[in-house]
Amino acid sequence: MNIKKSGEIFERSQKSIPGGVNSPVRAFKSVDRQYPIFIETAKGSRLYDVDGNEYTDCIGSWGPMLLGHNNERVLEAVKKSLDEGTSFGLPTEKEVELAELIKECYPSIDKVRLTTSGTEAAMAAVRLARAYTQKNKIIKFEGCYHGHSDSLMVKAGSGLLTFGHQDSNGITEGVMKDTITLPFGNSEKLIEILDSEEEAACIILEPVPANMGLIIPEEGFLKLLREKCTEKNIVLIFDEVISGFRVSLGGAQELFNITPDLTVLGKIIGGGFPVGAFGGKKEIMDMVAPVGNVYHAGTLSGNPVSVSAGLETINILKENREIYNTLEKRTKELVLRIEELIEKYNIKATVNHIGSLYTIFFSDKKVENLEDAMATDDKAYNTYFSSMLEDGIIVPPSKYEAHFISWAHNNEDFEKLIAGVEKSFIAINQNSGR
Ligand SMILES: Cc1ncc(COP(=O)(O)O)c(C=O)c1O
Repeated sequence: MNIKKSGEIFERSQKSIPGGVNSPVRAFKSVDRQYPIFIETAKGSRLYDVDGNEYTDCIGSWGPMLLGHNNERVLEAVKKSLDEGTSFGLPTEKEVELAELIKECYPSIDKVRLTTSGTEAAMAAVRLARAYTQKNKIIKFEGCYHGHSDSLMVKAGSGLLTFGHQDSNGITEGVMKDTITLPFGNSEKLIEILDSEEEAACIILEPVPANMGLIIPEEGFLKLLREKCTEKNIVLIFDEVISGFRVSLGGAQELFNITPDLTVLGKIIGGGFPVGAFGGKKEIMDMVAPVGNVYHAGTLSGNPVSVSAGLETINILKENREIYNTLEKRTKELVLRIEELIEKYNIKATVNHIGSLYTIFFSDKKVENLEDAMATDDKAYNTYFSSMLEDGIIVPPSKYEAHFISWAHNNEDFEKLIAGVEKSFIAINQNSGR
C-alpha cells in the first residue's frame, strides 16, 4: 500500500504540532509505525486517506460514529443547522430538546448540562461530587480513562499506557494524594479501602471499561459499588462517554440495571461533533451555577451544530432500537469467527466483546483488568495492526483500545475483516518462527 503522501504530511506536521498529531494515539507510534495515515474523507464504514487508499474503519472516531460516517439524516440536520448560524452564546430550544431526550433515555438523570468534551464533563462531575459531599478524595480504577483533567489523569488508561506511562507529568502531589486508584473488578480491595477511607467524595468508573482494551464488568461488582456508595454517602459517577448510547440506548446503566448518582456522556450525543454532558440527581445538579455555587461554563457548550447532530443521531437510534440487537448479533458473529481463527492458527489470544465493541488481546489468559492488559503481547498486536492496515482495514493503533463496529458495516466489511485477521495471524506465526 502506498502511503507516501501521509509520510510527507507527517514530516511537515511534526514541525508545527507536538508529535505531529492533536491526540497522541493517532501518531501510530505505539504500533511501531513511522507515521500515521492522514484522512481526507469518510463515508459509511469507510475512510479514505490522502494517498487515495480506502479502509474499512474499526475506530469510528473512537466511538461517536455508531451510525457510520456522514449518515444522510445526520448530515441533513447539520446542514440545516449551519444555515441557521453556528454559535450564539445564548440558549437555543434545541439544547432543551437534547436534554429532554437524554433524560428520557437515562432515567437516573433529572437534569443535565452540556459541555464541549468528555474531559470537561468528567472534570465538572467530580467537582460537583466534592461540593455535594463536602469531601475531597476521589476513587477511580486503574486503566479507566475519564479525560485529561488533573485528578483523573492518575493511572488513566489507553492514551498514557500506549506510551508506557501510568501517570502524566505536571500534576501536583496534592492532586495525586487526593486520587485513590484501585484495580478494576477487585471487590476485596474496594471494601478494604472504603472501610478505612472517610474522605471519598466520589467513585468514578467506566462501567464498561474500554480504555485498557475492552473489559467486561461483573454485574456483582457494579452492584457492590452502588451499595457501598449509598452506605458511605459517596457519589457514584458512571462515565458512559463510550458506553452511553453504545452498549444500549440507555447505556451500561440500563444494560446492568444499576442507577448511578451522576452520569458523564459524550461521543455519540454529539453525532461526530465536539460534545460532552454530565447529569444526574436533581439535588446534586442544582448545585451547578447559576442555581448553586459549583461553577461550570463554556463558550461553545450546547453548540447548535453539535446539538443538531446529536439530536438527529439519538432520534434515529430511538426510532430504530433494533439497531442494538442487530449490531450485537453481527459483532458476536464476527468475534466467533475470530475465535475460530485463533484456534485454527493456535494464536495466544482472547477476545472481549459486548454490543458493538470488542478487543483482541494477544494473551491466552482472559483479560479482566489493567495488569492483565499490560501483560499482553505488544509485538503480536503490532503485527496484527500493520497486517490489517496493509489489507485496507484500520484497527486501533494501540492494544489498549476497543474496536468499534457501526451500523454502516456491511457483509463486505465483515468478510474483509475476517480475511484480514486470518492473514495477520499467519504473519504472527511466521514472525515467531512457527
Ligand atoms: C470513557 C471516557 N471518558 C472521557 C473521555 C474524554 O472525552 P473527550 O475526548 O471528549 O474529552 C473519553 C475519551 O476517549 C473516554 O473514553
